[in-house]
Amino acid sequence: MLSHSYIFALLSGSACAHIYRVLDSSFADPSVVYTGSDYYAFGTTGNHVHAQTAYSPDFVNWTLLDGHDALPGPYPTWVSKSSVSLWAPDVIKVSNNSYIMYYSAREATTGKHCVGAATSSKAQGPYNATVTNSSLACPLSQGGAIDPDGFIDTDGTIYVTYKIDGNSLDGDGTTHSTPIMLQKMHSDGITPDGDPIQLLDRSDLDGPLIEAPSIMLKDGIYYLSFSSNWYNTEKYDTSYGYATSITGPWKKQYAPYAPLLKTGTGSKNAGKLSAPGGTDFSVDGTKIVFHANLNGKDITKGRAMFVANITSSDNVISLA
Ligand SMILES: *[C@@H]1O[C@H](CO)[C@@H](O)[C@H](O)[C@H]1NC(C)=O
Ligand SMILES: *[C@@H]1O[C@H](CO)[C@@H](O)[C@H](O)[C@H]1NC(C)=O
Ligand SMILES: *[C@@H]1O[C@H](CO)[C@@H](O)[C@H](O)[C@H]1NC(C)=O
Ligand SMILES: *[C@@H]1O[C@H](CO)[C@@H](O)[C@H](O)[C@H]1NC(C)=O
Ligand SMILES: *[C@@H]1O[C@H](CO)[C@@H](O)[C@H](O)[C@H]1NC(C)=O
Repeated sequence: MLSHSYIFALLSGSACAHIYRVLDSSFADPSVVYTGSDYYAFGTTGNHVHAQTAYSPDFVNWTLLDGHDALPGPYPTWVSKSSVSLWAPDVIKVSNNSYIMYYSAREATTGKHCVGAATSSKAQGPYNATVTNSSLACPLSQGGAIDPDGFIDTDGTIYVTYKIDGNSLDGDGTTHSTPIMLQKMHSDGITPDGDPIQLLDRSDLDGPLIEAPSIMLKDGIYYLSFSSNWYNTEKYDTSYGYATSITGPWKKQYAPYAPLLKTGTGSKNAGKLSAPGGTDFSVDGTKIVFHANLNGKDITKGRAMFVANITSSDNVISLA
């Protein structure tokens, strides 16, 4: 049980959280990687490039690398030639001078999305997308796969978590499951090792879907952030689950400890957030990057990148 004073500290803590809006243009589904001395963030297709990139020496002051494409192609043959439609690129650092980008792109024959891997010797890229010509997840009959996130466990094992895009099939009038999957990788980080397993799925509380997973480990507890509801409504948010083993069982956290971010979550610096989601943890689990509506009310002007510090203990994540 959590003490009342702890709950009070938690609630008052989030009431005066420091959240910064750090880019003034659309930069959706951001992810962050720390090189050892500075930070790079990557975002969904926009501003005339496939994979957007931003740079920060200190995590607070960010600059859009305007015109820089972190994944310019050529692309593997499974990727659509007419519209790459790159979503939610995520980068991990595997060693000095070795970075892996996981991305989702439109599949050539169906228009659904699938997940691939690319590598670079520099965090900012350009990433080589033909370092493997196989997708790493492509469950087309279930709606495809999107929103990959790389995670390196304490024993060095690389995992990729992603969402099966079941709601891309909801046009048939039924609600499909949108499971968050975990794929163990070989040590090259680009070749799957065995079959994926399911970590979490949507429930009625999540509306039609959950998506945008990110995993971190803090004090022996794994945390998995995810967004619920449609991204283009103000119901979009950031919740999370927790587990003592990466393979589960995973439990979702609920009110008053989740969602971590939702429409109306406030801060002195950033005002009230609108539809905050697409959250990505820093490797050390002390920071998040996420997007929320640029104009503070709807998606018409796109989604801007925000950053915040977090603390985590006893299965609870709080804004710092
Ligand atoms: C922010 O970083 C940019 C370059 O990355 C630098 O030119 C600028 O002076 C910095 N601003 C502040 C307030 O530190
Ligand atoms: C990576 O480079 C840094 C300095 O640039 C060095 O301190 C560190 O030991 C290197 N790590 C590896 C794994 O080579
Ligand atoms: C990308 O990787 C492939 C496979 O190793 C290689 O053939 C190709 O030359 C690489 N492309 C670049 C630009 O390095
Ligand atoms: C993938 O295909 C491209 C184009 O045919 C080729 O250059 C590249 O070497 C291939 N990659 C691998 C790992 O075979
Ligand atoms: C996070 O914490 C560091 C160290 O306390 C502080 O310098 C930085 O401004 C904070 N960043 C945010 C986004 O709150």
